Amino acid sequence: MKFIISLNILFITICTWANQPLLQNNYLRNGQSLNGRWHYIVDVYETGYYNYRMEPHDGTENPGSSAFFLNKKPKNKTDRIEYDFDAAPTMNVPGDWNSQKEKLFYYEGTVWYKKSFNVENYDASKRYYVHFGAVNYRADVYLNGKKLGAHVGGFTPFNFEMTHLLQEKDNFLIVKVDNKRAADEVPTLSTDWWNYGGITRDVTIYELDETFIEDYKIQLTKNNNKEVSIYIQLNGENKGNQNVSLSIPELKINKAFITDDEGYVAIKIPVKRVSYWSDTNPKLYEVTIAIAKDKVTDKIGFRTIETKGKEILLNGKKIFLKGISIHEENVMRGGRAWSMEDAKVLLGWAKELGCNYVRLAHYPHNENMIRLADQMGILVWEEIPVYWTIQWTNAETYQKAETQLTELIQRDKNRASSIIWSMANETPTSQERLTFLTKLATKARALDDTRLISAALEDHGKKEDKNIMIVEDEFAEVVDVLSFNQYYGWYGGEIDNIKNIRWEIDIDKPVIISEFGAGALQGFHADKMTRWSEEFQELLYEETLPTLAKIPGISGITPWTLVDFRSPRRTLLPYQDGWNRKGLISETGNKKKAFYTLKAFYENIE
Ligand code: GCU
Repeated sequence: MKFIISLNILFITICTWANQPLLQNNYLRNGQSLNGRWHYIVDVYETGYYNYRMEPHDGTENPGSSAFFLNKKPKNKTDRIEYDFDAAPTMNVPGDWNSQKEKLFYYEGTVWYKKSFNVENYDASKRYYVHFGAVNYRADVYLNGKKLGAHVGGFTPFNFEMTHLLQEKDNFLIVKVDNKRAADEVPTLSTDWWNYGGITRDVTIYELDETFIEDYKIQLTKNNNKEVSIYIQLNGENKGNQNVSLSIPELKINKAFITDDEGYVAIKIPVKRVSYWSDTNPKLYEVTIAIAKDKVTDKIGFRTIETKGKEILLNGKKIFLKGISIHEENVMRGGRAWSMEDAKVLLGWAKELGCNYVRLAHYPHNENMIRLADQMGILVWEEIPVYWTIQWTNAETYQKAETQLTELIQRDKNRASSIIWSMANETPTSQERLTFLTKLATKARALDDTRLISAALEDHGKKEDKNIMIVEDEFAEVVDVLSFNQYYGWYGGEIDNIKNIRWEIDIDKPVIISEFGAGALQGFHADKMTRWSEEFQELLYEETLPTLAKIPGISGITPWTLVDFRSPRRTLLPYQDGWNRKGLISETGNKKKAFYTLKAFYENIE
């Protein structure tokens, strides 16, 4: 009971830490990067966190000397300290440990990271934040031996103010990273991707004035492309009644406002002659917000995205989303993708395929992907890892999902490329699940009413006629776009019967096929009916694409998937060997035949 209570207290504390406001647009702020080599200690038994009675050192008045976050050193030759970060090996941050250290390839558990640093141009009158692009899965963060906070969720950003603990020189930042899977987490125990652990994205220090620009949203008003809706939130003692200026020079906008007592201002500004952002015109405007002692500049595209009956309209014009699904992995280097270079490889391949749209599966990808999509004119489906069989009735599990959704929307709400928020993937229908997902959709709409809501649902054959596929799911009533995964010809049904398949969809909404595909080992050639051959995968695309084109309201597809990706579920030798082989490109970057089948199909679509 004492342990359960302390766990609950811990969870509530995490929520409070997680509620530290996320700095908007840290991406384009100047900061001091802490990327590079970090010392690490693999702590399978979490000896550095719990004493031998499994009581956490964390949060106690005088944590024992074996509390790793103290970074203790022996006082003299007799003193006993049984860990030493500076004698420990190092690895790259950002980066997962699985692809960097062979011994950690399959490792799921705790690894402690330590980074020592001095603050460049330290100014004691300023405020300092440390920002993490993501840490998989649970991060406990300490500065100079004291707790800064904790974060749960492997794919979204978080930051902590550290002004109160920071010094000019000889700081040490320690992060306990734990990527253990659990039934009540998001994602839950079973997924079809590699559970890469570590500090997987950028770590940056931001120096800010006492009062700074904490958050803003600048997008066209919903369904009104002649007006920009803006809100700005300041943080700091002088946030109230503060002069704020906003300039968008190319739109001849130069405005000044006063914040209310809470440091908040919301306005709508009419706009003329906007070059609307689109896949063929990825126009980004330079936008600057300034207050007395702070200024942020962002690059924002203005576009409207909506549905009308069975159509998806981009800037009021019907669009077909020529897409591909992508996992956040740089298979050629190995491990989680995180850099702009990684993003250029993945989105470069998507562009080569002829895509104007991508599904970033099944979790929020790094910000380089979405910023590059903004620049390249690629529309994006973003998703939180509410994947397969989540604990629908567990309130804490729901809170974890909602926090990840909130952090995603908080990060990308000013990105023109991001058009769809997906609440989930392949989740079993039940009342509890419907309640869970509907709450998430409501939250998403409350946070951002300018984008479309969807989820990857599932179809199945009609009892009375197996050649007729239907989607029986009450969540289809809640979404703006009906999306479902369909694997006819791979996970059921004969490949040579695909041409006879029909979908019966009696819902007046656009339809996106969020997944279809087949596995193939690149370089394995055989007749078209031989599974795992490139020819079988090619045939499945040749049969499926024209069949899907007949679906009433079909407005987009994201075949599964762009590149083969690592998965512990895929053990079949010689074909899989730890890889899901449904990629159109192999882990060595070689294109399979079906790559060209899809490319040709997209070339024929307006
Ligand atoms: C599912 C799932 C994917 C998975 C794919 C597959 O539909 O959404 O995550 O990788 O099927 O089985 O290959």
